[in-house]
Amino acid sequence: MPATSTLDALLQELRARLQAAGIETPGLEARMLLGAATGLDTAQLIAHGTDPATAEQAARADTLSQRRCAGEPMAHILGRRAFWTLDLGVSPACLIPRPETELLVEQALAILATCDTEAPRVLDLGTGPGTIILALLSERPGLQAFASDHSHEALLQAKANAHELGLSVHLWQGDWLGAVTRQRGFDLIACNPPYIDPDDPHLTRGDLRFEPRTALAAEEQGLADLHRVIDSAREHLNPGGWLLLEHGFDQGEPVRQRLRTTGYQAVRTLRDTAGHERTSLGKI
Ligand SMILES: C[S@@+](CC[C@H](N)C(=O)[O-])C[C@H]1O[C@@H](n2cnc3c(N)ncnc32)[C@H](O)[C@@H]1O
Repeated sequence: MPATSTLDALLQELRARLQAAGIETPGLEARMLLGAATGLDTAQLIAHGTDPATAEQAARADTLSQRRCAGEPMAHILGRRAFWTLDLGVSPACLIPRPETELLVEQALAILATCDTEAPRVLDLGTGPGTIILALLSERPGLQAFASDHSHEALLQAKANAHELGLSVHLWQGDWLGAVTRQRGFDLIACNPPYIDPDDPHLTRGDLRFEPRTALAAEEQGLADLHRVIDSAREHLNPGGWLLLEHGFDQGEPVRQRLRTTGYQAVRTLRDTAGHERTSLGKI
């Protein structure tokens, strides 16, 4: 990157570089990368736009923009991703939280609002960086919060995020409900499992190339983990307890069917803002 005179000029260079690499929102991402390179927030970048950029700032911005132009996700470059009202730490060991999952959080909060129990017991299966359980806890600090994942690294990230937010979650490592064998009696179980067909070409594109395959793909056209969770969650739910599952836009019908045949009641599917079937739920 050529020597630049001011922070504004550096911002324009970054923007042009990202645009040339085909990044969809080059202006926004240029500001975020320059913020990471300088330690300045957006307001400070505007206020100090005419300040000279130091050689170190320009070198850091250069390295970060090269990583982005090579396709690395912004969340990995910055080590952070906004989800719900939270700013979560993320790493390449866990899924980057997606806005679609906020639908499940909204529905879980609506169910918890009608729950008679004072401190409902809630389990987030496959929590990754703590995405769902930390969003729920941030809104309902009185919850008894539990979460699991089979990935030790993901759980370390979830633990760090909980600590940073001052929230308390019991974390277990293991294979779906096998991680919580002796713990029964949840009022709500939430799960966003891997649900992409291993043959789906999207796995070789965009951010997905950089995320753990075990967080994304599942056998049986993406349905294997959804089926396992549906089958085994039932006996861990209190009477009247709910199971909420995120799934692919074309998996609503098989998920509803599995929920019904396994004995769940009041089974239905919610659509995301794009109109796609995204979250299914049922209760015991
Ligand atoms: C799609 S990611 C969801 C992460 C996070 N809950 C979210 O919504 O952003 C699926 C998560 O399930 C975990 N996982 C995959 N297979 C698992 C298994 N057999 N048992 C427990 N967790 C598993 C992955 O490590 C990953 O964190």
